[in-house]
Parts: sequence; C-alpha cells; structure tokens
Amino acid sequence: MSTHLAISAASLAADAPSGATAWLPPPSSTIAPGVDMVFNGINAVCYFFFALIMVLMVYFVVKYRVRKGQAFRSDAPLHHLPLETTWAVVPLLIVVVMFYVGFRDYLNMSTPPKNAYVVKVTAVKWGWSFQYPTGATSDDLYVPAGRPVQLTMRSSDVLHSCYIPDFRVKKDLVPGRYSHLWFQADQPTPSGWGHNLFCTEYCGTGHSNMNRKVHVLPEAEFDAWLVEQGQWLDKIPDEELYFRAGPKIFARCQQCHSLDGTKGIGPSWKGIWARVNGGEGSGEKFADGTTYAGIIGPGKKYATPEDYLRNSILNPGSELVGGYGNAMPSFKGQLNDRAIDAVIGMMQHLDDFDPKTGASLKEAPPAAPLSMK
Ligand code: CUA
Repeated sequence: MSTHLAISAASLAADAPSGATAWLPPPSSTIAPGVDMVFNGINAVCYFFFALIMVLMVYFVVKYRVRKGQAFRSDAPLHHLPLETTWAVVPLLIVVVMFYVGFRDYLNMSTPPKNAYVVKVTAVKWGWSFQYPTGATSDDLYVPAGRPVQLTMRSSDVLHSCYIPDFRVKKDLVPGRYSHLWFQADQPTPSGWGHNLFCTEYCGTGHSNMNRKVHVLPEAEFDAWLVEQGQWLDKIPDEELYFRAGPKIFARCQQCHSLDGTKGIGPSWKGIWARVNGGEGSGEKFADGTTYAGIIGPGKKYATPEDYLRNSILNPGSELVGGYGNAMPSFKGQLNDRAIDAVIGMMQHLDDFDPKTGASLKEAPPAAPLSMK
C-alpha cells in the first residue's frame, strides 16, 4: 500500500522472508517451525521405512526365489517372536511420538494467548473485510509485528476458509458462528509486499478472487497506520469524494456490478442515476411488480433517489431488481455515511470513470490505503 510506503522507514530495510523449501513456503510465524518440524519429521520417517521395506523386499525376493528343480521347504519358520515384537513396538513408539508432538502444537494453535490483538474478519461472496478495535477497516490484513494476533471470523453467507500458508494457519468460516485463528509474526514485511491470504473453501464463481495480502508492520508503524486508516475518508474534500474514494469502494462492488452495462450477479450501474430519477428505465419493474418511478419521489416510499440507493446498500433484499436474486450482502457497519456518499456520487457521475475498471478519469487515485471507513 502506498501509505505503508510513506510511513514505513524500518520496514523498508526488511526483505521478503526466505527459507522456502520444495515442500513449504517460508515459515513466517512463531508456530510455523513447529508445524514444519512435524511435517518434515513424518516425511523423513516415511522415506526411511519406504526405502527399508523396498530394499528388503527386493533382496528377499531374489534370495529366496524358487530355483529350478527345487521343491518348497516344508520346514520354513512360521514365527519369530523377537522380530515380530520389534516391528510392532518400534512403529508404535514412533506414532506415539508423532501424536504427542502434533497434538501439543495443535493445542497451541487452537488456544489464542490472552493478550492477543483482536481483528474481526468478515467474509462475503467474494471478499474479505478486516475490522480493527479502533473501528478502522481494510481490505488487506495489517497486523503488528511481535505480538499475538487473533482473528475472530464470521461469514455473511456461505462457507469460506481463511488460509495464510506462510503462517501455517487455516480455519473455516461457518455461517452463523464465530471461529478463531491466531498467529504471531515477528518479522515485518517489506513495504509493498505481503504474505498471501487465500479463501480455501470453494464458495462460488468469485472464489478465486478472495485472495489478499497480510502486511506485518513494526508496532509503532502499525499504530500510525491505524490512525491514518481511520481518517482517510474524512480527509478528502467533499467535492473530490466521489472520484477519489468511489473507485476504492467500488472495488468491492465490482465482483457483481459492472459499469458498462454487462449483466453480472447484480444489475449494472450503467444508467442507474437516470433510472432512479424518473429518466430512462424508471418504468422497469422490481421483482414484486413495483417500478422505480412508483416508489421513488416526494411522498413515496423513498423521498429521494439517494434514500433508495442508500437503502439498497444497507438492506439489499428490500427491493429486488427484476431478474436478479437476493444475493447481495448488507454493507451495514461496513460502509459509513461518507463512504455511501462516495458510492452514490460515483453512480451520479459514471462518465468520470473507466467503464471497464472503474478507475477515475478525473484524477489518479490518491495515496490512501484501501479502506471502507
Ligand atoms: Cu470464499 Cu472461497
């Protein structure tokens, strides 16, 4: 992120973590070495016994083959107690050690330390939202270095799963319940670089778009980032709000809504301002048979077009545009009034945006973090 760049002095010196192997990405959390040890240990045991068994098998097959003119032995040994005891007891000891080490680390992974820094995570089809104790939110995950971080996670719709391979952590997000995951990353990430965070539960057509970055900042820098993050929308002058903040917020709408008229999961924003203002398309019907013109206007259900648009963002199920399902999650608590102003402003001035990408044509995007707050 560019703010990250601006406020980052210490982390500029940091390098992307090294230590990746053919099997595993670089271990970048405090529990990663333990997980890797279990994985590598079990692997090594498997290689050893595979080799031992294969070599002995081939050797015995050759050595004890039936030779020409030879009859089967009738006096071959049937049992060998010391040998049988050894091959039962040694593997038993090995799997007990595997269980002990694996279970110990599993318990450690499932018990967040009491002093953990809590970030709330919400997954929706198809994106992540991270909310910090100050109320600031972000699209990428930012965490303080050297401190345990607990993610308290929920899903707004279907099963998702949060997976950060470099940290060796992964947990499902189940609709209707909270799940937890914790990690501690001691090494700050270099600016402009982040650990991968994936959704690893197939959740529909946009599943592969649910990848984000995790940025680890030195604690002081993290605090500065939080303050900045909480204020970036407030700092934009009103008249610039729609084209500076709009495209950043639209990035979350883009999975379902186009600007160029293409039908998506939801209706395109093209021509939306005319439709809600009694212009072209205002006679189009909702699923329940009412029309835009029938519910928007003085004395009607929505006194102004803004009222209707605001409600559609906060309570998306209340009017369903004809031909579309009730697929949109509510953005209550995710977009504040100023963010909603920016979205409505963008709908009002669609000519100022690239119809394919949603990028502002009025001005290059500002050096502000990706955020909804
Ligand atoms: Cu969310 Cu896959």
